[in-house]
Amino acid sequence: MEDRWSRSELDLHLDIDAARGLRAGLEQALRDAVRRGRLAPGTSLPSSRVLARDLGVARGTVTQAYDQLVAEGYLIAAPRSGIKVAVRPSAPPAEPATLARSYRPPVQGVDLRPGQPDLAMFPRREWLAATRHVMQTAPNSVFGYGDQTGRIELREALAGYVGRACGVVAAPDQIIVCAGYTHAFRLVCQALLLRGATAVAVEDPSLPDYAAIARHTGLQVDAIPVDGAGLIVDRLGSQGGVAVTPAHQFPLGVTMSPARRADLLKWAHQAKALVIEDDYDGEFRYDRQPVGALQGLAPEQVVYVGTASKTIAPGLRMAWLVAPPALMRPLAEVTKMDETYVSVVDQLVFARLIETGELDRHLRRCRAHYRRRRDRLDAAVARDLPSAHLSGIAAGLQAVLHLAGGAEPDLLAHLDRHGVAVDGLAQYYHNPDGIPPGLVIGYSTPPEHAYATALSTLIPALRSWLDQP
Ligand SMILES: Cc1ncc(COP(=O)(O)O)c(C=O)c1O
Repeated sequence: MEDRWSRSELDLHLDIDAARGLRAGLEQALRDAVRRGRLAPGTSLPSSRVLARDLGVARGTVTQAYDQLVAEGYLIAAPRSGIKVAVRPSAPPAEPATLARSYRPPVQGVDLRPGQPDLAMFPRREWLAATRHVMQTAPNSVFGYGDQTGRIELREALAGYVGRACGVVAAPDQIIVCAGYTHAFRLVCQALLLRGATAVAVEDPSLPDYAAIARHTGLQVDAIPVDGAGLIVDRLGSQGGVAVTPAHQFPLGVTMSPARRADLLKWAHQAKALVIEDDYDGEFRYDRQPVGALQGLAPEQVVYVGTASKTIAPGLRMAWLVAPPALMRPLAEVTKMDETYVSVVDQLVFARLIETGELDRHLRRCRAHYRRRRDRLDAAVARDLPSAHLSGIAAGLQAVLHLAGGAEPDLLAHLDRHGVAVDGLAQYYHNPDGIPPGLVIGYSTPPEHAYATALSTLIPALRSWLDQP
């Protein structure tokens, strides 16, 4: 910033309480801005001449305020570089930032927490080529405020892609481009409320973030247990919708059985409810053909959501929601009030990747890459941890390691001491009572060069835990 803006150009917003008097008001506004962290240590302030002109006050007022704050230690007057915000060791810590849902600060050591693909796999070359194409061909009008449901070019490309690759029945006007599943789920919850729903069901276990989003929208959340065949449909009641991960349950990794799928759709039909199908990693199925989307069986009952967070990168914030025509009106109502958009440039680039077949080629590369990693983890567990059992490995980027006994918090602390970060299974349970210890291992997270070390740290650490008397 400092290199790019001369000090005289620096735009400084100050809320001056004129009732205090100009000088005192200016002093207080600067003090507050430094205290609250709005002006970071090291920030250069405008010269007194420029600030006086911008504020329409006498230059002396500004110099006196600056002098006072230099005396108080908030600012420093550096020779030749003017006035800067001081580094104050006693400054109160900045208010904790509201973390984005899935953002988790990096950890020291081995990171095998689930949630991220191998970010080194980002198709940079293909993305660059597609961006060049878009920049050379897109008319200027593209850069205006776009259609809130997403660029038509992308919705058309997605309609073809989800039909071909996932068995989803979709016309472009049933698709809404969203900033991640998280955004899509929020929109659907809001639309359910408009339809008169008061409750939504989620799987137990599942990511707690989604229950929190639904609650925040104003819906009651009912957690429905999952067994080896998927969500236990009999436990559903009169909820207006249920969010499921049928292709690869998160975090357990089970695939919903054909009988359960049929039961679930029957329930949705009878309860006049909607199934929200979270297809977060359906592209990565290793040992057989991908399981077709539930949506393809009952397009009137299912809202399908796909995301690029696992296939490309979560930072893209790119997802697509396919809604039954009956939900389009409430969804249109809620999108009208929503200001979350995916950049139109990224939308067009992504559409280009789909149209040119680059997305499919990328997915094939990734599938082989992650399959190798899964096989290495599977082999290491089978060889060195015979009493443990790895499940959920048919698809996706995470697996669950089940251990015979012991307390999960102790195990996590033990792994932490060995420099390994993984997730405990219990944190995903709405009702964790009686859950045997388990670890959710995200084998896509480390970069390729670090994967061997990750396994050779994890496995002996687990061995030593299991070998404890
Ligand atoms: C169960 C589940 N659903 C959806 C997502 C994707 O969320 P988003 O598209 O908001 O990044 C994830 C990513 O971690 C996930 O684990």
